[in-house]
Amino acid sequence: TGMFTFDPGFLATSSCESKITFIDGDEGQLYYRGYPIEQLAEHSDYLEVCYLLVYGELPTATQKAEFERTVMKHTMVHDQLTRFFNGFRRDAHPMAMMVGVTGALSAFYQDSLDIAEPEHRKVAIYRLISKIPTIAAMCYRYNQGLPFNYPKNDLGYTANFLHMMFATPCEEYTPNPVLVRALDRIFTLHADHEQNASTSTVRLAGSSGANPFACIAAGIACLWGPSHGGANEAVLKMLDEIGSVDNVPAFMEGVKNKTHKLMGFGHRVYKNFDPRAKIMKQTCDEVLNELGLRDDPQFQLAMKLEEIALNDPYFIERKLYPNVDFYSGIVLTALGIPVSMFTVIFALARTVGWISHWNEMISDPGMKIGRPRQLYTGAARRDYVQVAQRG
Ligand code: CMC
Repeated sequence: TGMFTFDPGFLATSSCESKITFIDGDEGQLYYRGYPIEQLAEHSDYLEVCYLLVYGELPTATQKAEFERTVMKHTMVHDQLTRFFNGFRRDAHPMAMMVGVTGALSAFYQDSLDIAEPEHRKVAIYRLISKIPTIAAMCYRYNQGLPFNYPKNDLGYTANFLHMMFATPCEEYTPNPVLVRALDRIFTLHADHEQNASTSTVRLAGSSGANPFACIAAGIACLWGPSHGGANEAVLKMLDEIGSVDNVPAFMEGVKNKTHKLMGFGHRVYKNFDPRAKIMKQTCDEVLNELGLRDDPQFQLAMKLEEIALNDPYFIERKLYPNVDFYSGIVLTALGIPVSMFTVIFALARTVGWISHWNEMISDPGMKIGRPRQLYTGAARRDYVQVAQRG
């Protein structure tokens, strides 16, 4: 490989220095800016976590209130952006619309594109955190043939998202606080995860100086895949396909023969357990209790699958444990969110992580364009042959 290290899949390469998130994969620990995820999930809320990820410290009471005010002030999207949706088929996948409409933000907010200016970067960060839930809800409403809901800023970030998703002009809509808290926790657990595929994509896109909205659109595109953010959607599809506990043994045989994967299991970094999955399972319990769905067959099936997998040598030898997405889909379903929106919810929550990494990178005076090398395995030098002479 000459002077370059060959490392497909980046199993042994650190692409950058970062102060944002630390994962201890062997111990199953995740920290945002030094704070354990368990403590943040229990005591903090998503917007406070956003502040922490972007600025590096927990806010004071005044900073917290100011941050919430500013984020909620930016929730509306340019009215012209709403027209964008009409170009899509109603049955377009919401992630397809997310990639397109988020990319289009750079055409609407040109006054925050001078990325060398910290003030511009700050406005772009606010705009993204504020507007992504609005766009996400619009994707759902368009898909369902429902009118868009304007944001209701006095509701708070997560309750407002549920309002934009589910309120109708015909009746009063009051989000259930237990469900708001559960969704807020899903957002918190997905807020950042160091140099995963989509975050690395955002950094790579941003390293060329591309504008932040375009970089986030690139991140959303990468997240869409079933090995990454698309896994939560794939888990629910898998549970549907398995259908009942009776079919689990046959399904497991297929996993071991490598005909299919057990979606929601395994992680590149966590080789002990995924701390997010533990919190997610507990949240799942709380939500199903609140809604009286404790006997929900999908949940029962998921628990059975987990139990069987955790005791199976195939999974034990390979250190495969449930990841965050094994249970998040069940919670989202209980909240009334359709499967096609699961990855959109992940994108919404991860936007703050992506933009924090982008900002950290741009703020570094030593930043270089990301430009990997390759191991060339193609043809050696040869001479051009005229078309008439080619066999
Ligand atoms: N089901 C069955 N076998 C698996 C699974 C699984 N979910 N995951 C890994 N393996 C096997 C894999 O076949 C390989 O076996 P062998 O050694 O016999 O070849 C071994 O375990 C090691 O796996 P790997 O593919 O080398 O591991 P990786 O680090 O490249 O992949 C992963 C990590 C998350 C892509 C993978 O575990 C996977 O595809 N899981 C299912 C999809 C999923 O749930 N993704 C969500 C990840 S968490 C949310 C996020 O961050 O996006």
